[in-house]
Amino acid sequence: MKRLIITSVTRDWPFVILFFIGILLILLLATKPVIADTLTEEPGPVDPELQRERGAYLARAGNCMGCHTAKGSPPFAGGRRLSTSFGIFVTPNITPDKRTGIGDWDEDDFWQALHEGKSRDGRLLYPAFPYTEYTKVTRQDADAIFAYLRSLQPISQLNPPSDIHFPYDFRPLLYIWRALYFKEGVYEPDRSKDEEWNRGAYLVQGLGHCNACHTSRNLLGASRDETLTGGQIMGANWYAPSLTSRLEAGSHDWSIEEIAELLATGISKSAVLSGPMGTVTRQSLQYLSQQDIRAMAVYLKSLAKNETSGMSTINTQIAPEDLRMYLQKGGKLYERHCQDCHGASGEGVANIYPALAGNRNVTMSSPLNTIRIVLNGGYPPATTGNPRPYGMPPFQQIFRDGEIAQIVSYIRNAWGNRGSLVTPIDVDRSKGDSH
Ligand code: HEC
Ligand code: HEC
Ligand code: HEC
Repeated sequence: MKRLIITSVTRDWPFVILFFIGILLILLLATKPVIADTLTEEPGPVDPELQRERGAYLARAGNCMGCHTAKGSPPFAGGRRLSTSFGIFVTPNITPDKRTGIGDWDEDDFWQALHEGKSRDGRLLYPAFPYTEYTKVTRQDADAIFAYLRSLQPISQLNPPSDIHFPYDFRPLLYIWRALYFKEGVYEPDRSKDEEWNRGAYLVQGLGHCNACHTSRNLLGASRDETLTGGQIMGANWYAPSLTSRLEAGSHDWSIEEIAELLATGISKSAVLSGPMGTVTRQSLQYLSQQDIRAMAVYLKSLAKNETSGMSTINTQIAPEDLRMYLQKGGKLYERHCQDCHGASGEGVANIYPALAGNRNVTMSSPLNTIRIVLNGGYPPATTGNPRPYGMPPFQQIFRDGEIAQIVSYIRNAWGNRGSLVTPIDVDRSKGDSH
């Protein structure tokens, strides 16, 4: 009996403590004097037509439509379900409908949402809405986005509420979360860098919200301190590679032109975008101006570190005597099913079929994306720069998990590639939620 009580108390103590910290913080924040916004930009007179156009462009850069549109529903009317480990978030209607959308909002309300993560009534918003990155957007740009949203056709669409698990459904817990992880503030230019670099950083860190995927998250869904260092996307079975590491998607060895081409068209001579990243380019990046894409490429290239350590090592779960057979079988399957497109030496065809030899997506330590693409196939995004992409067939119906494991292990270790071996368990784990 006594032991029971003790165990239940020890199990619950983090919640008890969190609860009290929460109350303290609420009191603290409620009494904190309001600090005047130091960023009082003087926008001057604005031409409403130009402002709306600019807003439409910026909304593309932020891909607001991507999340705020459900399949088969009008754009921006919300209702899209985003599944995360905290539950399912349903995006709100952000058309100017008075009853179901944001028709009653003014510029200040909108700024409060985008910059501070608070709804019009002061309700704290969940960071499934990436205001943790949008906070970097300037007031001028926020006003332009709002002017554009105001110009949309109001759509009366009441969306179902989000279905968030206990205890995360208790919104005031967000006070704690925000105190720990949310840093409010407009992007501050780095004066030691030129204008193009700063424009790129502003877009990547702010509206582009690249860090919403390209970072690892802790149990509270907060990104770890380091930005763009790669991580599994919450709620989607995809790995968004590090944009700083040379071993993953750091663009150290790519020219600015190639990075820009890849971001804008979804394909380049040595890489191709797939899955959720293909969607980012299809819905957002392909619409950005050449200057903005180039600026992002300049910034991304500057992030890439030139490290060489940390190469994957051979998986020890497989006995060495099995290893040769494993790779031999994988090689045979490759010859029959993959070689026609990807080439006998994994050389691919530039801008059509990605090379697998020397491809970091294939060799990086997480085999998740490679397994997924072999299971499900896919298309690079259709863009103006690559309107009719060639696709890859799915192999899930053709192969057993063991065979997929052999093929993936083979391409990770053929033609000078070096990656850990993949097991049937890895393959099984990669199934599910295709996002
Ligand atoms: C990754 C998905 C995602 C993207 C991208 C996104 N949103 Fe949202 N947004 C959400 C979710 C989810 C919520 C609801 C959060 C909550 O319930 O706390 C939300 C809430 C909002 C709200 C608050 C609405 C209300 O009634 O309180 C506004 C305003 C908004 N988003 C505008 C935008 C704009 C403008 C953009 C583009 C710059 C954008 N969103 C991009 C997911 C997204
Ligand atoms: C919705 C999640 C998501 C967002 C947002 C996102 N990415 Fe990605 N990104 C991914 C995933 C998943 C991959 C791995 C698949 C692939 O390589 O195409 C990836 C891959 C990449 C790659 C490597 C491509 C390759 O084949 O080597 C680059 C570069 C990249 N992203 C840049 C960006 C930039 C810049 C942004 C912000 C504008 C961004 N990503 C936003 C999910 C995302
Ligand atoms: C009909 C041509 C075709 C065949 C056959 C084919 N692929 Fe592909 N493969 C493609 C295309 C096109 C893409 C780009 C898909 C995308 O971006 O979604 C691709 C992408 C890939 C990628 C991801 C590369 C990257 O940079 O992200 C891997 C890994 C891959 N294929 C492996 C295989 C393996 C293994 C087989 C055989 C089991 C195979 N492919 C068979 C055309 C093919």
